[in-house]
Amino acid sequence: MDAVSRIERTLSTSLDRVDSTAGPPRLAAAMRHAVFPRGARIRPRLCLAVAAACGEDDPAAADGAAAAIEFMHCASLVHDDLPCFDNADTRRGRLSVHRAFGEPLAVLAGDALIVLSFQTIAWGAARSPSRLMPLVLHLAAATGMPFGIAAGQAWESEPTIDMGQYQRAKTGALFAAATVLGAAAAGSEAATWRELGERLGEAYQVADDIADVLSGKDELGKPTGQDAAHGRPNAALVLGVDGAMRHLTQLAEAAVAAIPDCPGAAALKSLTLSEARRLLPKDMALRAA
Ligand code: IPE
Ligand code: IPE
Ligand code: MG
Ligand code: MG
Repeated sequence: MDAVSRIERTLSTSLDRVDSTAGPPRLAAAMRHAVFPRGARIRPRLCLAVAAACGEDDPAAADGAAAAIEFMHCASLVHDDLPCFDNADTRRGRLSVHRAFGEPLAVLAGDALIVLSFQTIAWGAARSPSRLMPLVLHLAAATGMPFGIAAGQAWESEPTIDMGQYQRAKTGALFAAATVLGAAAAGSEAATWRELGERLGEAYQVADDIADVLSGKDELGKPTGQDAAHGRPNAALVLGVDGAMRHLTQLAEAAVAAIPDCPGAAALKSLTLSEARRLLPKDMALRAA
């Protein structure tokens, strides 16, 4: 089964496990709206690619880790779109969760997806219980204080923000978790995989910043021009579009260089390079030139 099918299957199975007729149906619907239809699924694909490169010996543990990361990402998007953060009406080409279901259910859907993320890791690791603690702790670190998503989003409420610190926490941390959890799910040494995730995460946020500045209104399936509108640090605004493109290229090269020596290194290198090319569509590069 290919990686995307494995990811979609695990996400559906986990949602089905908590979607009971005894629970509030609109919260269940809001959770599904946040997860399906899919976005790029880049973080869980990265997690599975690293698990495979490490000689994956417990596919269920890797599936659980990958789906957990995607649930966490989806939760972060639901909260990020709320009026108290970015006030975005659209996401993945349709209404954001609070626009479709109202703010109370959007807050709760994000909360419930964070919880489901940890449940999914635990269900997946049933056959490798010794791997569960590191998986949980790495995911928690990527999500909470002081370097995880919550910390990253909280920098927006501070009087001064360091762009690198902000981006590493709000985006880089979950990418680093994707590589680290992939290795941990396969029972491998996780630390050597962190740098690949960090570099990719930084590259991804720089690409998102360039897209935020250069894309037309309906091109991304979410509002554009948001960073300038909200006064947020944006690599393309800080470095200029050309400077941000150069930075992105360097980060993609650094990511490839950070792939540890392993049997799956060649496959990972090709995934990294194809993602880097996808991040910077040709027409965008041309428009910047
Ligand atoms: C959006 O992430 C938020 C960023 C950190 C840039 P993605 O671009 O991965 O969003 P989806 O999952 O594909 O919608
Ligand atoms: C989103 O950052 C990162 C998190 C949700 C933690 P942005 O606000 O820059 O991403 P988009 O542009 O809304 O996807
Ligand atoms: Mg935001
Ligand atoms: Mg946003």
